[in-house]
Amino acid sequence: MKEGPVKVGLMGLGTVGTGVYKVMQRNAEDIALRAGLPVTIAKIAVRDLNKERSVSVPRDMLTDDPRELVEDPEIDIVVEVMGGMENTLDLLLTALRNGKSVVTANKDLIAEHGRVLLDTAAEYRCDFLFEASVAGGVPIVRPLKQCLAGNRISQVMGIINGTTNYILTKMTEEGLDFETALRQAQELGYAEADPTSDVEGYDAARKIAILASLAFNSRVVFSQVEVAGITSVTDRDVRYARELGYVIKLLAIAKHDEERGALEVAVRPTLVPVDHPLAAVGGAYNAIFVRGDAVGEAMFHGLGAGELPTASAVVGDVVEAVRNLRDGVRGRILCTCYRNIPIKPVEETYSRFYLRALVADRPGVLGAMATVLGEHGVSIASMLQKSSRGDLAEIVVVTHTVRQGSLMDAVARLRDHEVVDTMFPPLHVEH
Ligand code: NAP
Ligand code: HSE
Repeated sequence: MKEGPVKVGLMGLGTVGTGVYKVMQRNAEDIALRAGLPVTIAKIAVRDLNKERSVSVPRDMLTDDPRELVEDPEIDIVVEVMGGMENTLDLLLTALRNGKSVVTANKDLIAEHGRVLLDTAAEYRCDFLFEASVAGGVPIVRPLKQCLAGNRISQVMGIINGTTNYILTKMTEEGLDFETALRQAQELGYAEADPTSDVEGYDAARKIAILASLAFNSRVVFSQVEVAGITSVTDRDVRYARELGYVIKLLAIAKHDEERGALEVAVRPTLVPVDHPLAAVGGAYNAIFVRGDAVGEAMFHGLGAGELPTASAVVGDVVEAVRNLRDGVRGRILCTCYRNIPIKPVEETYSRFYLRALVADRPGVLGAMATVLGEHGVSIASMLQKSSRGDLAEIVVVTHTVRQGSLMDAVARLRDHEVVDTMFPPLHVEH
């Protein structure tokens, strides 16, 4: 049980840390009433003590040594919004061992080291909270852990990377090129320090690993996620998808195939029908569909990145940690992974696909392609000749649902086929 003001040590004063600082100043009175105790930021760790900040912070609150925060007996809660892996893991484990609750937005760390962090929190009876690690300001971690705990969840699917959704939206709606759209996303504070993680799908893969672990009570780590980013998506694909009645989104998907006792967990650029609710999720917005046996379909929607939306989730966790500290009930809801469900091999998953190829522009070529697809059990839903480029024609095919292994074999055969000049990477199609 805690009486008197609660002291927070804030690690990081970048995009998210600045938002946390602002929200905690701005809403201090309500936060104290909701949490049951006043809460103050006592110390802030940054890398560069001389950097100009958009918030005015007393100089003596700053340190460039984050270890000071985790070792300070005065600090009750450590809020980690600086990022990083091995050093940060070590700092957070030390904080927990020193009896401090931890709030973090660091999905990289959780998707890799979630188990040891949660186990350590349990051992030292502290809270370890990470609502902001997935979908920024959109509440999804606590809903999966608590509000939907009465369900058997079969699927979690959504848009969980703001940067790529911003880029794809700008490419689709304003015809912007990839680089310009990425630069804008970086200026708005959505992108990771190294945006490779966003555009190659790794950021979304870390988040879907976290969501799958929560939804299916079975630990999924980053390396188990099948990942494809948006760098291979061209403006031609965006245009053809539109003509076919789709928009391209970077979808993160986690499905539980109860019959086969296996999970499918993937991130991939996907054609989504224009009338699907996810098609309307634009800019840095995120949205997550959850399908449960009791709730049916529930959708969570909001800003998935940026200063204040992310701070909203972080500060919500701080309030929860203060309440638990005040009532002496820390460490109530930690690791919820009590099963060990295997991941399905990619080849054994099923989907519809969009294929694009440059082929020889002469009679019989469409027939030759159809034959190869047919031999691999790939059934064609539609096939279009889009345009001619010199003596080559551009072909777009949308398939019916097919086993991914068969589709990959057919694509490999087509790549080597004498009528095919270029086979572009296939894209998944949702219906
Ligand atoms: P950021 O703008 O780069 O800020 C990082 C902050 O941490 C900076 O203040 C930096 O100090 C400080 N820092 C970094 N390394 C440090 C070290 N070794 N010692 C002391 N301080 C250090 O990052 P961000 O966008 O706020 O993201 C922070 C975390 O939140 C990441 O884990 C990210 O994945 C996660 N996240 C971000 C968002 C978002 O929208 N940006 C959303 C959800 C989750 P200086 O200011 O002196 O450089
Ligand atoms: N870079 C991330 C995104 C920030 O664009 O969604 C939120 O984790």
